[in-house]
Amino acid sequence: MNKICIAGIGPGALDYITPAARKAVENCDILVGGRRNLAIFAGLQKETYLFESNMEEMIGFVQLQMQKKRICVVVSGDPGFYSLLDFFIRKLGRESLQVIPGISSFQYLFCKMVKPWKDYHLASLHGREVQLQNLLESNQGIFLLTDKQNTPSKLAADLMNWGIFECTMVVGENLSYPEERIVIGKPIDIQNQQFDELCVVVIEKDGMAI
Ligand SMILES: C[S@@+](CC[C@H](N)C(=O)[O-])C[C@H]1O[C@@H](n2cnc3c(N)ncnc32)[C@H](O)[C@@H]1O
Repeated sequence: MNKICIAGIGPGALDYITPAARKAVENCDILVGGRRNLAIFAGLQKETYLFESNMEEMIGFVQLQMQKKRICVVVSGDPGFYSLLDFFIRKLGRESLQVIPGISSFQYLFCKMVKPWKDYHLASLHGREVQLQNLLESNQGIFLLTDKQNTPSKLAADLMNWGIFECTMVVGENLSYPEERIVIGKPIDIQNQQFDELCVVVIEKDGMAI
């Protein structure tokens, strides 16, 4: 039986896909992924399985097809950072998987900020409660994946409701794409701004120096 390859393909632009991930995509028979990730490889004319939200249906397809075909699941950023790796390990076990690292959205944004990320807490707001106040006390700052509900503007409003006005927020929108925007401001500047769905945020408790 073939191993399932889970390949991280970075933030989105072709320049940030590693040669290893590209090779895995080229060598597979079926490419599994979300719309944005599959679109990047449309030119290769691979058989594809578009995965939107039904994880059980997707894993059913993969389990059936992996008997005879080489499957590569393409995920944004790195597979181990709030991605599908946990789910595949639970369903298929480590021995059935091969994982290819990718450049995560947090690595990309910190490089843009010209800052190391080792003193920051890395977290996700996707369907999770994060104790931001406590985390800000014990770290230089926090990196957060945001989503449709937990937007950068809502996060700014929450910070102000908790009495946190003096931090600096760095919003990374559509990172690596031509329409990329990096917006820097205090929560009061961010709270009424509109952002696309694809965003990450760094909260700096001590202000920025970029
Ligand atoms: C399911 S998580 C996957 C995170 C990914 N594994 C990583 O390492 O970055 C999807 C979230 O990543 C962030 N993201 C991924 N690509 C992005 C990009 N190009 N620009 C901004 N945010 C991005 C957004 O917060 C998005 O909601």
